[in-house]
Formats: sequence, structure tokens, C-alpha cells
Amino acid sequence: QLADSLYIINNFAREYFSNTLFNTEEGQNVGLSYFEERGFTQETIKKFQLGYSLNVWDAFTKAAISKGYNLEYLQKTGLVTVRNEQPGDNYRGRVIFPIHNQSGKVLGFGARILVKNDRAPKYINSPENEIYIKNRVLYGTYFARHAIDKLNECLLVEGYTDVISLHQAGIENVVASSGTSLTQHQLRLIKKYTNNLTILFDGDNAGIKAALRGLDMAIEEGLNVKLVLIPDKEDPDSYVQKIGAAAFREFIAANKQDFVLFKLQISMQEAGNDSSRKSQLVNEIAETISKIDKTEDFTRQQDYIRQCSQVLKIDEQGMINLVNKFIR
Ligand code: GTP
Ligand code: MN
Ligand code: MN
Ligand code: MN
Ligand code: MN
Repeated sequence: QLADSLYIINNFAREYFSNTLFNTEEGQNVGLSYFEERGFTQETIKKFQLGYSLNVWDAFTKAAISKGYNLEYLQKTGLVTVRNEQPGDNYRGRVIFPIHNQSGKVLGFGARILVKNDRAPKYINSPENEIYIKNRVLYGTYFARHAIDKLNECLLVEGYTDVISLHQAGIENVVASSGTSLTQHQLRLIKKYTNNLTILFDGDNAGIKAALRGLDMAIEEGLNVKLVLIPDKEDPDSYVQKIGAAAFREFIAANKQDFVLFKLQISMQEAGNDSSRKSQLVNEIAETISKIDKTEDFTRQQDYIRQCSQVLKIDEQGMINLVNKFIR
């Protein structure tokens, strides 16, 4: 009942913001030009149901209340906030990205400021409520699920705009974690469609660290994880817009690497000549490899043991023993 009301309000808001984007002067001059400058086509804007929220105190709030929507529910969706007893719009002067569930119903919104500044957050996202539980949602699942199924691979990116630009470039098997590290629920959502996960993350340190954090969990869930590092200062959105769809596809194909081996290489570099760090690392890798067992994919585990002991320059049988220690 409450959930239904929240879905109805979100659907009203999606239509309202879309209508504002296309059919008001401010929407066209500010919102549409923003999307166009980012290289989004009309078709893309419509497909992802993007919108614009007027830079007015309570334009949406008034429309929603005159439709008869309950103020308490409007607040629950995060679309309306009450300040000094005055209800008003929460996403004023922002472009709007609806966040859909797997069947296309709107769970919430991401609202981006037009010009980044230090006073306001770049994105405001809907709060959690009865229908929007953040750690269970991956942005773009609704648009990506058929392609993920068909290609038997899911690409994971950080942001809304990465998903959108890749779709526009014809790469549709892509979802976004929305800037947080992956949760078990999200990994299981991916597993419903495929065992093959390819992470496309920023090449900067934060991007790599975020990706590494998800690794053991992804392996425990039985996912086969690959990684592509996007060049410095770029993200999948900016990079595909810069080099074009064909070159981007080639880049992905040429730079896809196994995630376990990648983690090993980074750790080896970090350890340098420190022998105690090195033996710690051997343990960590053995533990990671031990988790593959749960996927009942024995050949893959053996392959990793062989490859990792080569990189680490240690005896293969020693590695096998160590891995087994973690399994027991
Ligand atoms: P653009 O700058 O529009 O290209 O977005 P982006 O996706 O490249 O942003 P960024 O890489 O900085 O962040 C990745 C994702 O993290 C975004 O898509 C959002 O989901 C989320 N995010 C970014 N900034 C904020 C913020 O200020 N607040 C919150 N709550 N989430 C954010
Ligand atoms: Mn970033
Ligand atoms: Mn980054
Ligand atoms: Mn970006
Ligand atoms: Mn980004």
C-alpha cells in the first residue's frame, strides 16, 4: 500500500520532470542544452527518461499536492522537503536521472547540479525508503538485462552518465554501482543474468581501491571477474565520447585483464623487497583463490594456483597447501 503510493508518486515525478525538460523554456534552455552539451541525443534522453527540475521553490510540490498526493509520502520519496513549515522541491535547478528497478518502475532519482561547485553536492540522490533500498539496486539493470543475458557478460561502471553514454555507443550490457562499493545483494543481482563481471573503473587510486574491495566478495559469489582500467582523468562516459564507440570497444577488448592476477601484480609492486609483506601477500592471494572453490570450478582454481605461484616465484605445491589451509 505505502509502496504502491511511493511508486505512483515517483512515476508522476518522472513524467513531470520529463515534461519540464521538453516543454518549458527553462527546461529547454538549461536542462536540454546541458544534456546536449554532454553529447546525449534526444533518443537517449527519452530512453532513460531524463528530466529537469525548475529552479523554483515549489513548482513540483504544488503540482503534486494539487494532484492530491499526501505530503508525508511526498517527503518519504525525497522529492519534497519541508523547511520552516513550508513544503518545497528538493531538486531545484537540477537535471534528473530516474533510477528504475528491473521491471522499469521508478525507485528514486539522482539529481545533478548543472555546474559543479563547493557549496552543494554534485548529485543529490533519493533517500532510502520502503521501495528504494540502495544496496540492492544497480542503476541501469532495466535497460541492460537483455543485453547482459545475451552477451553473458555484465559491465560495471561507477556512474549514471557512464551507463547512458555506453548505451548510446551501442554497449548495452552495463550497470552502475552509483559510486559505492559493491554489495552482496548487487552481486547476486548480476548473477541472475551472468557469471561474467567486467569492472570498468577509473584508473585513479580511488577507483582501483573501490574495485579491489569488491573482489573477494565477487569471487565468493562465484563470479568470474575481469577489470579494465580507464585512462587517467577519464571515466567510461568521457572516454567513449572522446574516442568514439568503435575505438572504445577495441580499448575494452585489448585491456581486459583477470582481476585476481591484477590484484596480485599491484600487491607485488607495493611489497617491493619487504619479505614479511610478501609472505602476507602470498597468504592473501591464497585466501582469495581458496574462495573460488565454492563455485565448483576446479580448473579455474588450479589455473590460478599455477599462474600466481609463477608470478610470486614460489613452489606450486606450497601454494596448493596454503590454499587448502583456507578451505578447511
Ligand atoms: P558526471 O560528473 O555527471 O559525469 O557524473 P559521474 O558519474 O562521472 O560522477 P562521479 O564519477 O564523480 O561519481 C560516480 C557516481 O557517484 C555518480 O554517478 C553518483 O551516483 C555518485 N555521486 C557522485 N557525486 C555524488 C554526490 O555528491 N553525492 C552523492 N550522494 N552521490 C554522488
Ligand atoms: Mn569519480
Ligand atoms: Mn574517480
Ligand atoms: Mn563523469
Ligand atoms: Mn565518473
